[in-house]
Amino acid sequence: MKIGIIREPDFENRVALLPENIKTLIDLKVKVCIEKNAGTRAFFSDHNYSDIGAEIVSRDQIFSDSNLIISIHSLTNDEYKKLKPGQAILTVYSPLTNLQLVNTFVDSSITSFSMDMVPRITRAQSMDILSSMATVAGYKAVLEAANHLSAFFPMFMTAAGTIKPAKILILGAGVAGLQAVATSRKLGAVVEVFDVRSAVKEEVKSLGAKFIEVEGARDDSSAGGYAVEQTEEFKQKQQQLIQDHAKKSNVVITTAQIPGKKAPLLITKDTVENMLPGSVIIDLAASTGGNCELTKNNELLIHNGVKIIGNSNYPSTIPTDASKMYGNNLINFLKLVIDTNGILKLDFEDEIVRGTCITHNKTIINERVKSIKI
Ligand code: NAI
Repeated sequence: MKIGIIREPDFENRVALLPENIKTLIDLKVKVCIEKNAGTRAFFSDHNYSDIGAEIVSRDQIFSDSNLIISIHSLTNDEYKKLKPGQAILTVYSPLTNLQLVNTFVDSSITSFSMDMVPRITRAQSMDILSSMATVAGYKAVLEAANHLSAFFPMFMTAAGTIKPAKILILGAGVAGLQAVATSRKLGAVVEVFDVRSAVKEEVKSLGAKFIEVEGARDDSSAGGYAVEQTEEFKQKQQQLIQDHAKKSNVVITTAQIPGKKAPLLITKDTVENMLPGSVIIDLAASTGGNCELTKNNELLIHNGVKIIGNSNYPSTIPTDASKMYGNNLINFLKLVIDTNGILKLDFEDEIVRGTCITHNKTIINERVKSIKI
């Protein structure tokens, strides 16, 4: 089998696989080609890849020669049309909200994998690109906030007087949120955290932050560690509590998500207007509508002296390590679907393969996608 690695679009600095990952694939008897300059913006040259044994090729050659094409960002529809029956693609294409593309892959007999569908189970942790990239985003969100804040994060006791530490409010304590807590604490800030899942309370406290609670949250243990939609009454109580804490905070970092749904609205315009001038909101959920009513995806705006930042691709700002984490996740998944002869072999008894493979042999494999197909 031959794997082809795509050069990502210009706005993306990461590359899907590193030279060290290519070595693993070659050991698995897989041939590898990579588009010219695919790794340059993550500081891996074509030589780094060719020295390991990868072939450096044009984009067209990737499409004509590869059995499995790998990219981080989904390709354009025109490029998907170039795929031939039996070819496979491993990318992130949000199949739950992109049913048209799912149908295209079924009709044209393309095997498609979407790495955002790796189930969140213990055995799949080493393949979970969402967690890896959320870790990067949680860390970088704090650095960005510190950069934009007109005050220090830590307390300073100097001859020029004592400076109080910054107060940070973090909404959502999943992967990104917990990383933001840890990074804020390392920088010496005082941190408060709110989440609808009370299961995260102990983790938050162990990182040295205070957990804020609203009673009456719906917490569904069958949701696989993810949050579920809340009642209207709860949402109102929650909004009031968030406003009470946000107006005393210097930084608010929002990370709340419910998979497959628009991001929950946690910071209203009214809350922003009650915040301290000079404070900063980093909205990590910008790409799914934002947790703040005023967020604009990939924009920085200022409302009443409050900066609202909606950067939805922080991993691209740390391309070397983000690519390393991404590549290691991919390799761990590929080892599961490539046999000892270097051929793609899909065991649909395995829930990781069944969850991540969306289409194969003109059939929808993933059960969640199948259940919402019209
Ligand atoms: P996660 O699912 O691990 O965590 C989300 C947390 O939000 C959960 O703990 C959940 O209980 C909580 N939550 C849900 N509804 C809530 C509500 N109404 N109030 C308070 N908490 C609530 O998700 P993860 O992996 O940490 O990602 C967080 C967000 O960051 C997602 O929106 C994701 O798309 C985004 N992200 C952004 C990146 C960027 O560069 N901006 C990069 C990677 C992820």
